[in-house]
Formats: sequence, C-alpha cells, structure tokens
Amino acid sequence: MAQEEYIRIYDTTLRDGEQTPGVSLTLEQKLIIAQQLDKLGVDVIEAGFPITSKGEVEAVKSIAKAGLRAEVIALARCNKLDIDTALSCDVKSLHLFIATSDIHLKHKLKISREEALERAIECIKYAKGHNVTVEFSAEDATRTNLDFLKEFLKAVVKAGADRLDIPDTVGICTPERMSQIVREVKSVCNVPISVHCHNDFGLAVYNTIAGIKAGANQAHLTVNGIGERAGNASLEEVVMALHCLYGKKTRINTQLIYETSQLVSRLTGIVIQPNKAIVGDNAFGHESGIHTHGVLEYPLTYEPITPELVGRRRWIMAGKHAGSHGIQAQLESLGIKADKEQLKIIVEKVKELGDKGKRVTDADLEAIAKTVIGQNLKEEKPVQLLDLAVMTGIKVVPTASVKLMIEGKEILAAETGVGPVDSAIKAIQKISESFAKIRLKEYRLDAITGGSDALAEVSIKVEDHEGNMAWARAIGEDVVVASVEAMIDGINKLLMKKKIIH
Ligand code: KIV
Ligand code: ZN
Repeated sequence: MAQEEYIRIYDTTLRDGEQTPGVSLTLEQKLIIAQQLDKLGVDVIEAGFPITSKGEVEAVKSIAKAGLRAEVIALARCNKLDIDTALSCDVKSLHLFIATSDIHLKHKLKISREEALERAIECIKYAKGHNVTVEFSAEDATRTNLDFLKEFLKAVVKAGADRLDIPDTVGICTPERMSQIVREVKSVCNVPISVHCHNDFGLAVYNTIAGIKAGANQAHLTVNGIGERAGNASLEEVVMALHCLYGKKTRINTQLIYETSQLVSRLTGIVIQPNKAIVGDNAFGHESGIHTHGVLEYPLTYEPITPELVGRRRWIMAGKHAGSHGIQAQLESLGIKADKEQLKIIVEKVKELGDKGKRVTDADLEAIAKTVIGQNLKEEKPVQLLDLAVMTGIKVVPTASVKLMIEGKEILAAETGVGPVDSAIKAIQKISESFAKIRLKEYRLDAITGGSDALAEVSIKVEDHEGNMAWARAIGEDVVVASVEAMIDGINKLLMKKKIIH
C-alpha cells in the first residue's frame, strides 16, 4: 500500500506501555513482544528509552538487530547524552522530545520557551548529523499555547525533523480540541503528523481518531492500552474502529490482535478487564436469552463484527437471563443431548441458580444436566489421567510428572514450577501441545469443609489457541489431584466444543 493510503501504526507498548506502574520487561520478553508486533504488522516499534538503564540499551540493541520489517525507534530527551545512548543501540530512528507547555517549562525544566526551542533545534541537528530519521514530540502539546506550539513545530521541521508528534501527555484533550490542534499544525508544517493520546478521561481512543480524521497520518498506540496512569490509546480499539467504523486502512493483520493482546498481558502481568472492547473475555460472550437466541440465528444481530476477525471465538454461558436456545446450544457444545422436557427443567434450575447470584459455568451446567438426565448422560473423555507424581519441599524445585491417555495413546511429561500445582498444570500443558495450546485463564481454590483434610474445590477457566473457552471444576481432598482433574476436565470440554483432535 502506498503510504498515503493507510494510517501508520506506531506501537509504543515496549516504551510507554512499559512505563505502566509495576511493569518491567526483560530483554527476552521485549524481543518476543517486538517479534509479535512485527508479525501483527505495526509500522513502527518504539523499542525503549535507552538512557533508563544498561538493560534497556541491550534490549533496544537486540530489537534493532532482529531483522524486523517494522521501523525500530528509540526515545531520547533533547540532550546529547540521551541521544548518544540511543544512537549506541544502532537504531535508524530517534524519537526526540522536549516539553513545550508553560506548566512543564516553569515547574519541571525551569527554562524559558526560547531555551526549549534552542535545545530542540540543536538536538535535532545533532541527531540528523548521524543519519537517522527523527520524529519530534512536543511533550504536553495539548496544554501548550497553540500559537507557540505552531511556531515551535515550524522551527523544529526547519531544523530537520522528519515527523512530528502531538502528545496529549496528561490525557486532558477533547476530540474537538485535538482536531483543531492537528489541523492548525498541519497548516504550517508539511511533514507527517502523529498523535499520542493518554487515557486519563477515557478519551484516548476517541482523541486519536479525531486527530486522524483531522489529517494525522500516524497513531501512537499500545497493546491493551497499557501505559502511564490510565494508559495510552489502545491499539486494538483504534485499529478496529478505523477499519470497521471509519473506513480507514492500516497494515495490521487483525486476526493476530487477540494473540498479541494475550501475549502482552501474560508478559507484563497486566490483566485485561473482562468488558474491555475487542480483547476482553466478555467482548464476544453472550448470556441473555434474547441475545443468545439472536446470535445463534444470525451472529450479526448482537455482534458488531465476527470474533474471528480479531482471532477470537464467541462463547455462550447459561445464567439468570438465559433462554432455552442458548442453554441447548451450550449443552450440545458439551456433548449433552437433552429432550424437550429435560431442557425445560435444566433451564429452570439454571435460572434458580442465577437468581441466587451464581454464574453458571460449563461445569455447573454439566452438573445440573447430570442430575436431570441422570444415567443417560453420555461421557466422552478423550483425555484421561493415568498417573500423577509430585515432589515438593523447601530445598527442592517443585516437580510434577503426569501421564495422560489421549485417544488411546499414553503420554508422559514432567515439568517444574513454583509449586506442585503449577508444575502439574505445566506438565499437562506440555502434553497438550501436540493438539492445542491450552492457557489457564482463571484458577480458584475454595475449601468446602474445615481442617487440614478439608475438601478442596478447584474451579478453572481454560482457553485454547483458537480462543475457545471452557470452565471446569473438580473436588477432592488433595489440592494437586483436584487441580489436575479440573484441568483435564477443562481440556476435555474444549475438545468437545471444538473437536480439536482430528
Ligand atoms: O506522553 C508523552 O508525552 C510521551 C512523550 C515521551 C511523547 O510519552
Ligand atoms: Zn506518553
């Protein structure tokens, strides 16, 4: 695609995203994310802020030499040490920034507007002397006097900046104001313009889109919207809104959005809220009878896009609002056939549980169906537990070995982990790798009775590589055995739902 035909996606997950409180990625983790972002199709990867640490320098260097298709860029303030450190990473592009708002100039940098401009010009010339592309950000641009901002950016372009960025550093902009700023800056600067929006008022995505509609060619985004404070504009939301609602193109392969989101969540430890647009667990989940009925008849009745477009699958859960169509579909996905009368009783029982405030998972529905249908319930279990051994202690690394029977074949695997449950689950995941990548998305342990011989109830939620989800539960006196049984039950439910073993 010619550049003017699409909006460039500048991903800053590895820089602004890593500035999320509590997030710190290792070199290996940064490299894995960078490779995934490259596969996803982002145009620019902001790999880091090299001056922050030696580890950051090494990480940016390794991303710069990883042979990625995307442009790799490093952040630097307007001073020689930052720029030299960033250049030492062998990147071909630098993102230089200096604050331009009076509030930052007076209270943070303690310099005048003129001094800030002098520093910016000097540093851009210095960086350009090293033959790199320079993107320049006027930090806190949205709180900067607009006439001064325009004069400043004009001078910066004259000094050699290749691209400009308008950051809404503290997320106070409105879409109307962002349009105005972009339009006015564009009227005096003939270089590509980016917008960089923070989400303090929940407007980051909207402000980004307003900037693009006003003529910005590039959006600074992070996967899952992670970043300082309330985060940055989220890549998945902006990209999908641009594609589906605004008729704009990007080079993102949208089918890789969900796996990228999951990877970033796993490596950063930042959990995605269930109701998050596009990538939240509930984004393609249905419970209410009216909705499930509609979706089962014709998905677009209650889904704005097909889940597959972003690499996901729809799921249906029984509950207080459920109807017989949805429950029948969920029973069928679990391999359970109920006649009309049985279905009626199951629906009533589901609603009774729902009225008591319980969510009715696959495991609950199966238990209800078992009591209603009784002996006739056909159990199809492609994966069975044959053996389990665990070793744990203070001075030994917790290790588990698990033997499973999968469609008549015995398979053994051993793994280590932070404890016996973790190692046993990992061993099961290792065995499952031959047919599916199984993620444990939720794990909950409840003691049903008191004492050290208490009955433990393990409830889990698992997801396969295609985005199918299943809920399972097991009860027993031994926490490790119950966890292993729940995991295997979850895998069996997934297999039943998708028949992933061929
Ligand atoms: O939010 C911000 O202003 C930034 C700059 C470094 C561009 O992240
Ligand atoms: Zn930022």
